[in-house]
Amino acid sequence: MKTLKDTDIAGKTLLIRVDYNVPLDKGKVIDDTRIRLSLPTIEYALEQGCKIILCSHAGKPKTVDSMLSLLPIARHLENLINKPVEFLPSLDDAEIKNAILGLDAGQILFLENLRFYPAETSSDETERRNFAKKLVADVDVFVNDAFGVSHRSNASVVEALEEAKVACMGFLMKSEIMYLGRMLKNAVEHPYVLISGGVKVSSKLGILESMLGVIDDCIIGGAMANTFLKAQGYDIGDSLVENDLIDIAANIIATGKAKGTNVHLPIDCVVATSFDSQEPPIVYDVADLPSKGMILDIGPKTQELFADVITRAKTIVWNGPMGLFERSEYVSGSLAVCNAVAANQDALSIVGGGDTDAVVDIGHAIDKMSFISTGGGAFLAFLEGKNLPAFDAFRKRDIL
Ligand code: 3PG
Repeated sequence: MKTLKDTDIAGKTLLIRVDYNVPLDKGKVIDDTRIRLSLPTIEYALEQGCKIILCSHAGKPKTVDSMLSLLPIARHLENLINKPVEFLPSLDDAEIKNAILGLDAGQILFLENLRFYPAETSSDETERRNFAKKLVADVDVFVNDAFGVSHRSNASVVEALEEAKVACMGFLMKSEIMYLGRMLKNAVEHPYVLISGGVKVSSKLGILESMLGVIDDCIIGGAMANTFLKAQGYDIGDSLVENDLIDIAANIIATGKAKGTNVHLPIDCVVATSFDSQEPPIVYDVADLPSKGMILDIGPKTQELFADVITRAKTIVWNGPMGLFERSEYVSGSLAVCNAVAANQDALSIVGGGDTDAVVDIGHAIDKMSFISTGGGAFLAFLEGKNLPAFDAFRKRDIL
């Protein structure tokens, strides 16, 4: 893997593609994990006396949307690195050129949200290429350090790398590929456990189907477990469910059995009358769930069952919380899983996805995990063994 360290960057102008698609609340960054993990690349470039341009997307805007401006993120970065960061609000041709050509060594220029420009995500390759050409026209080296967006064929991910005079990957990208790559090797130690949670079965189908038979145990929690419970014939009341996936859920359980993967579902659940109910939630066994009520977390017996499976694991991949962890009444199941993973220091534990990273943060367990991936969709796509557009572009230039 060719990184900045294998590239002559001293004193050069660098465009670094980062993924700073981070949660904001009233103009404040509320989880800066992705930003902090990108700092080694930026700091190394600063040590090498580079002129640095940073670019990222945030959200899915189709045009300029002031709520998705990257200005607050640029200010957050400024505080983290204790250095001024110049913000460029417009990427119009003359402005971007002048700003880049006006940079001095050690200066950082932060570009406005790339997705304010439809060409960034256009399905028309020529449009994307022209936009990418503009981005890299006046830079010496393009560095892709945005693992989180590797599954997108965006101009700043694919065409910018192809069009740049010199290109390489950043340090965060390299560590993601190294750690997640270990999961694809047949050499992983068993028992190998996948913990899958979050809201939708549909977004996890790929990873579930591709890992059945590879993993020994598959733990399913979060709202996605409701579809599996319904497939098993339980009355899940008013809980979230994907009715069109009930047969597929039943099939996943059956295929798991046939291929030697034990699928573990909740045996008891924390139930409330609605998402925002102020009444104390009640725990029910899955056989006794009320016909009016929503499952919002796994129950204590399930916590024990899941912890037992996790304790015996030698390899763990965790993506998705066990319940509505954003509310303190329903965080307990996700924290129980977090504690069990953190306590198993004999296992290689890989955690991915923004919500899962947030649970690990709440559980003060960041240092207890072997690796925290900054990818959500990219993390899943990688582990499904899909071809990621960013990696294809790396391969074409012998970077990977
Ligand atoms: C993510 O948060 O998963 C990445 O930044 C990709 O974002 P996207 O799903 O909007 O392309």
